[in-house]
This record gives sequence, structure tokens and C-alpha cells, in this order.
Amino acid sequence: MIDVALRPADARPADLAIVIDVLRATSTLTQALAAGYRGVLCVQCTERAETLRGAGRVLAGERSCVKPPGFDQGNSPIEARRCSGDELVLATTNGTPAILVACANADTVLLACMLNLDAVVRAALGYMTAGKRDVHIVCAGTNGAVSLEDAYVAGRISSQLPGARTDAALVAEGVARAFVAPLEALSASADARALDAAQMSDDVAYCAQESLLALVPAVASFHSGVAVVTSRCEDSARPRDRRFVEHLDPVSR
Ligand code: MLT
Repeated sequence: MIDVALRPADARPADLAIVIDVLRATSTLTQALAAGYRGVLCVQCTERAETLRGAGRVLAGERSCVKPPGFDQGNSPIEARRCSGDELVLATTNGTPAILVACANADTVLLACMLNLDAVVRAALGYMTAGKRDVHIVCAGTNGAVSLEDAYVAGRISSQLPGARTDAALVAEGVARAFVAPLEALSASADARALDAAQMSDDVAYCAQESLLALVPAVASFHSGVAVVTSRCEDSARPRDRRFVEHLDPVSR
């Protein structure tokens, strides 16, 4: 079954979850791994990110679109093109919390955006062939509400996967059909207007690029409120990579 949670509150247990926050958390995260970070540590809030500060770690994120005080960089895929450490610690308003919700509902969690659309579809087809046929696409949305841009990307993915689909998946596919190009869909959203107002419209254009990166971020471990995301292992049967958990602070483990 192909299903879409248009908001994180609609997420449910599934074989495979695919999380989308195209503006901008999953775009930033995908770009960061492509730039050379070996992992991205996703957390609920900026305060949790601060507890993970350490050598080789770069703190990134946003509050109201803007870099939080004391952070090394914002939640920008353009900034994430430069790799300045081993691991990125990412805290955003909607995107990283949605990733944590998906981790609580599925053993296999992939992260999607426009930048890696084709790669995610190929990975999802691989998991489906291997037996994970209940696919749940989770949209981060905005402050608990549906966001147009995430629904658009969900529809682009859903429409390329085989099998029965729920009404929510059909709604997302309808949204995807309504726009001739990704930039048109992303630009029409309230989140794009907020980024424009914060002088970050370049990020919207960057996030609208289709299949620029052949990389699929996947959750390698989920522990103490931290989802460690790495580039997906080709062998989906391989056990989760525990290396990064060792780097979490001992107090919170
Ligand atoms: C979020 O998680 O809410 C977004 O990624 C917001 C943003 O990019 O400014």
C-alpha cells in the first residue's frame, strides 16, 4: 500500500517511511551528505542540538527560518554545500521533528526532497521488491498543518510506485499533477513566501532542482532522541550502523 501522511500527526507504523521537508530540512541534509559529512544528527530542538556540540560537529538549523543564536550555520542547502566537519547536527522547526516521528513508526526511514527524487524512487522500489510493500510517505508540513511543497514532492514519489494507494496518496498525486515544474509548486507555498521575506529565495530555487544528487539519506540509528542519518547502505539487509551512536554524549544515552 502506498500511503501519504500529509502532516506528521497522520504518521502511522509502516514497513518503510519516506520523510519529506523539501523547504528545507531534507534538502539541507541531503546536500550535507553529498558534500562529505559522514552523518547528520537530527534532533527535536535547538537545546538538544547544543548538548551534542563537540569536536568535528557543526550545528545547523533554524528558528523562524533564521540561524539560531550560537549555531554555526542556518538550515540552508546552499550553505551545506561546504563540508566544515565530520557530522552536522541539525535542529529545525518541522523537518527534524518529523524525522523523529517517522523513526518511532518504521524500522526503515529514508529522507526525500527534489534534489534526490529519482534516487529515492529507485531505493523505494528496491525495498518494495525486497518485501517492504507498506510504504508511508510522511510530509513534515508546517506547524502541524499541510504544506503544499511537501505534498507536491510526496505526490511525485507516490505516482512512481506500484500498488494500491490511499486517498491521501491520490490527493498528493493530484497536487503533483497541478504544477508543470517543481519551482512552480515550491514557489506557490506559504513556506516559500516566508523564505522570500527572510531574503532566502535562493534556497527555494536550489531546493527545486530535480534529481541533482544520486544519494538517499537513511536513518542508521535512533537513540536518545537523536536520529543519525547517513547515506543509505546499498544492502538493505545490513544491520544498522552503530558507530555514530558511540559519539553521543554518555549522559543522554
Ligand atoms: C522546518 O523544519 O520547519 C524547515 O526546514 C524550516 C526552514 O527551512 O526554515
